[in-house]
Amino acid sequence: MKILPSDNSYRTFCELTSGYRMFCVVAEAVRLGIIDRLEEGSATSLELLAATNLQPEEGERFIALLVSTGLLEQCDGLLHLSLFSRTFLSRSSATSQRQVLVFEPLLMENWHRLGTVLHEGQGALIREHPPDECRERLQLFQQAMTEAAVVRSRELWDAVTRLPESGTIIDIGAGEGTYLREFLGRNPLWQGIACDLADVCSRAASGCIPDNLSYYPCNIIDLEELSAFVSGYRAKADILLFSNICHCYSAAENAALLEQATALLADDGLLIVHDFYRDANSFGALYDLHMLVNTWNGRSYSIDEIKDMLQKAGLRHNTVFELPSFSLALVASRRTPYQAASLALKTSSTIDNGL
Ligand SMILES: C[S@@+](CC[C@H](N)C(=O)[O-])C[C@H]1O[C@@H](n2cnc3c(N)ncnc32)[C@H](O)[C@@H]1O
Repeated sequence: MKILPSDNSYRTFCELTSGYRMFCVVAEAVRLGIIDRLEEGSATSLELLAATNLQPEEGERFIALLVSTGLLEQCDGLLHLSLFSRTFLSRSSATSQRQVLVFEPLLMENWHRLGTVLHEGQGALIREHPPDECRERLQLFQQAMTEAAVVRSRELWDAVTRLPESGTIIDIGAGEGTYLREFLGRNPLWQGIACDLADVCSRAASGCIPDNLSYYPCNIIDLEELSAFVSGYRAKADILLFSNICHCYSAAENAALLEQATALLADDGLLIVHDFYRDANSFGALYDLHMLVNTWNGRSYSIDEIKDMLQKAGLRHNTVFELPSFSLALVASRRTPYQAASLALKTSSTIDNGL
C-alpha cells in the first residue's frame, strides 16, 4: 500500500496541506459560470469578466490562475476550456462531475469534526435533518454517486471482459443502474436486474430504461426480503455485482449478506466486489475514515477481509484488478479462476488466487 507522505518530501507536505485550494478553485470556476460561458464558445478575458461580473483586477488574476493550472487554455488572446474541463466540468459532458463538486462540501463538515468521532465513537456526528433538507441531501448524494458511477463503470467493464455473449447480471445496491446500463450497452444480449431500496428503484424506473433492464426493490439487510429475492432468482446470475455497497455496512452484515446472496450466483458465475479497499492505496485508506465520520457503521475493508468473507460463502477462487481511479474489482468464482483478457492485463495489475 502506498500512503502519500511515504516519500518524506516537503513537496508532498505542501501538496497535502494545500489540496483544498484547488478544490475551491475548481468549484468556484463552475459556480461563477466561467465554465458555462466558455462551453458556449471561446472568449477574451474582457468578455469573460463582463459575462461573470467579476472585478477587473481580481477577475484577471483568477482567470490567469485557471490558465496556469490547466483548467483553461489561452490561444491568440482567446480563452477555451481545456480537455480536462470539457470532460469533467462542462454541463453537457457525459462524464460531468458537477454534482460531486456540490456534494463534497457537505462531507467536509464532518471531516472538520473527526476528533469528535475519535473521542465519542462512529455515528456521533450523524443527526436527523428536517425532512426537506434530508430529501435534498439524499438527492444530491444520488446525483453525485451517479456521476462518479458513469466514469467508474467504464473502468470496471473495461477490465472485466471475455464474457459469454448472453447471460444475466444482477447488481445489488444498483442505485440508478448506471453500472448495468454501461454493461448492457456493451453486452446487449444480456439481461440486467437492478436491486436497491424501494424508493431508489421507483425513482430510477420512472426514467427511460432499456428493455433488458428491470428493477427489483429489496432491502438487502432485511433477511426476509433478501430471502424472497434469492428464492425468486436462485442460481440465475452469471454475474453478481456488489459495487460500493459493502463499505456501507459492518463486517457481520456483509458476511451474512454475501453468504445469503451467493445463492443468486449460477454455478459457474462470477461475483464481483467492486469497492475501495483500505489496504490498496491511500484513497481507499481515506475512504475508511470518510465512512467513519459520515456514516453509522460503514467502513472500507482490506482485500483479505473481503476474500475471507467470499471464501466462507463458498467462492474459492479470486482475481483482483486495480482499476485506474483507485477502486479495485475482486472477481470471485466457485470453480475456476476468472481469466482476464489481455487488454485488462495491460491496464490493471492482477493477482490470481486459487485456494
Ligand atoms: C454507495 S451507493 C453505490 C451505488 C452503485 N452501486 C455504485 O457503485 O455507484 C450504495 C447503494 O446501495 C443502496 N443500498 C444501501 N443499503 C441498501 C439496502 N439495505 N438494501 C438495498 N439497497 C441498499 C443505496 O440506496 C445506494 O444506491
